[in-house]
Amino acid sequence: MWILGLESSCDDCSAAVVEETPAGPVLHALVRKSQDDLHGPYGGVVPELAAREHLLQLRAVIGEALHRADRSWDDLDRIAVTQGPGLVGCLLTTFSAAKAIAWKEGLPLVPVHHLLGHLNAARFAAPALPFPALALLVSGGHTHLYRADSWTHLELLQKTRDDAAGEAFDKAARMLNLGYPGGPVVDACGRKATGSAPPFTAPKFRDGKASWSFSGLKTAVKTRIAAEPELAQAGTEDSRVQALCRTLQETVARWLLKPVPEYVRPLGIRSVIVSGGVACNSELRQQAQALAQRLGLELAIPEPRFCTDNGAMIAAAGALLPPAEQLLPLNADADLRLTV
Ligand code: KG4
Ligand code: ZN
Repeated sequence: MWILGLESSCDDCSAAVVEETPAGPVLHALVRKSQDDLHGPYGGVVPELAAREHLLQLRAVIGEALHRADRSWDDLDRIAVTQGPGLVGCLLTTFSAAKAIAWKEGLPLVPVHHLLGHLNAARFAAPALPFPALALLVSGGHTHLYRADSWTHLELLQKTRDDAAGEAFDKAARMLNLGYPGGPVVDACGRKATGSAPPFTAPKFRDGKASWSFSGLKTAVKTRIAAEPELAQAGTEDSRVQALCRTLQETVARWLLKPVPEYVRPLGIRSVIVSGGVACNSELRQQAQALAQRLGLELAIPEPRFCTDNGAMIAAAGALLPPAEQLLPLNADADLRLTV
């Protein structure tokens, strides 16, 4: 089965051509147009600008993906597209385009939940992963831990009470004037560190409910910069900035993985999936590897190009999703608050 996957729920415009085989999904083309330069000066994604840019980019991105895969519309079996959640203008742009193409080309259209996409990114490297799995899906908009019974069924275990982990990286980088998006630059800067900054205090929850909170971490970084204002202008070559970035990502990775062991035995967990943009983080990848080894669990972390938003993960999920009779009617629409 050949699938065109489209993803533009935020600031990346991406299309991929994927072949679903008995051995798992095979990528034939992945095109991703980043809008980092457009949003960089604002220090974060400007939704209206992102949607307009998708409108300009989408046609060329799809054309390029088909060209690189050496496929025409006739070779495809379905189109998979992100239905939500995400920024509404961005979702609507690509969802509407996908509906129009599906109608014109007579192709089934498969709506995909964005987080099922992030989950299925792990299928490229680990198609035979044993379930149930713990799925830690961490991005600029989500920090969710699920029990996954299969590649298409998620049950929420816990999530952040406030900011996503990616947001903490993006805001910290912004306060340190390191550029946008913050995650990659904090990661690279932290790797240069020879020392560490003082540790951050973990939040405590009075209600005892399992969850995370990352807003306090942002405030903690702000407080440190207020105490040493020159940090904000020092840049990535400064050893104090490097130490701060290192401690920041060590903290985020440790907090993210902390709940994993306690779910393993009660839920009969056999593997761990870590995906979403923050799963590109080198420290999180290392800590996850060490933890999985210690717990004797199989670990699936997609390669970085599949971790951040991309059309391939949507195609991989769309290949498994609905049986033909449940395919999308053309009056369906994007849904910015779609739940799994
Ligand atoms: O999944 P994604 O591409 O988009 C959303 O669905 O939000 O994730 C983007 C997030 C951003 O917050 C970005 O800073 C973060 O992923 N990110 C990273 C790294 N690469 C991207 N965070 C930490 N370390 C990285 N290497
Ligand atoms: Zn995402």
